Amino acid sequence: MNTPVEGFSKLSKTQKIDWIATNCTKDPKQTKMLLQQYWNSDPRVQQLHDEFIENTISNYYLPFAVAPNFLINDRLYAIPMAIEESSVVAAASKAAKFWLERGGFKTEVLGTEKVGQVHFMYRGEQNKLTDFFNSVRPKLITSVASITQSMEKRGGGINDIVLRNLTDKIEGYHQLHCTFETLDAMGANFINSCLEQFAKTLKEEAQNHKAFTKEEKNIEVVMSILSNYVPNCLVRAEVSCPVSELGSDDMPADEFAQKFVQAVNIAKAEPYRAVTHNKGIMNGIDAVVLATGNDFRAVEAGVHAFAAKEGQYSSLTHATVEDGIFRFWIEVPLALGTVGGLTSLHPLVKLALEILQNPSAKELMQIMAVAGLAQNFAAVRSLVTTGIQKGHMKMHLLNMLNQLGATESEKQELVTYFKDKTITNASVKEALEQLKSM
Ligand code: MEV
Repeated sequence: MNTPVEGFSKLSKTQKIDWIATNCTKDPKQTKMLLQQYWNSDPRVQQLHDEFIENTISNYYLPFAVAPNFLINDRLYAIPMAIEESSVVAAASKAAKFWLERGGFKTEVLGTEKVGQVHFMYRGEQNKLTDFFNSVRPKLITSVASITQSMEKRGGGINDIVLRNLTDKIEGYHQLHCTFETLDAMGANFINSCLEQFAKTLKEEAQNHKAFTKEEKNIEVVMSILSNYVPNCLVRAEVSCPVSELGSDDMPADEFAQKFVQAVNIAKAEPYRAVTHNKGIMNGIDAVVLATGNDFRAVEAGVHAFAAKEGQYSSLTHATVEDGIFRFWIEVPLALGTVGGLTSLHPLVKLALEILQNPSAKELMQIMAVAGLAQNFAAVRSLVTTGIQKGHMKMHLLNMLNQLGATESEKQELVTYFKDKTITNASVKEALEQLKSM
């Protein structure tokens, strides 16, 4: 039975594990696993991971893979992916190969604007607030000079600060809606530091603003924080080819193109399907976000908000057939960094970026959009032809056999056996039992 604990974070790592051993598990094998199997044998590497977060007791592994053969704007990439779902990397690689033979992916960054807001309450005269804001705006910018200096030297910094009146939503509610260019950094710390200083300056200047009454001087700052909704930090990736090049053993080209476009249109029109359709896209995007040490929660939140920007949750991808040409594309907001954060700290993140030829944040946006588009192509292609289970269960077979305790030779034999058979939990169990009894 778990019990409350005081000062857990102050305990040493071994003490924390002892606490787990006493309070959470009776199985000594579990603590042995934390201590031995999952700790890095190099104490310096382990310490690095321990210090990423608080209360670390071990490491949590995900497979780190590479999907090769991505031709993006005529340059070839192998894309690193960190993901547990069996079929994702195989599907990405298959889609990459398919489009490699049809001209590859074309991409374009449509914007790189990041957003942050100071949320505050002001219940006085609107004109006075507008005049105050116009007079204080230059001071807001100079007040963050020490924070923005080095970003500005590299061509980034504050793009704009706009006063927004949102009193139609909440009585007294206003914002400083601020936009930024953070170049190769995701920019969360930079943006939040600027915003907190804007809030301080705003409050101080309001106190000294002669036109304000005593009440109006007391601007109440509620919070200052970046927004993960970045509709103008946008990237587009596209593939296209003559419909005649889309045929396969599974389906003739014309029928495939027509069904594919229909499937995408269904995801555009219908939220239940759109969510799963976009989940497939995020299979590709998240795997690269994780491998490159980016913030998958930020990306997920921003992407889904974007998918609902017209007021109904919809597909992130689009497909058309016009004049015999099949076109399939994605537009997706991605706020990423290739410097700062974990990028120079986590050894595998460093390697992932190296595998990607050390991209700028803009290049990484394009690579990730391609990973999402490729994943969506592979999923929809399976859905409208063979169905998803055939490929999915094939990739899942090893997990099932591991779960059932199959030996290496049994696994090998059954992988061959199931090459031309339907894989289900029951059929795998039965085949393994039969093999064991022989
Ligand atoms: C499974 O992880 C993803 C899919 O469901 C995506 C889709 O339905 O498009 C196959």
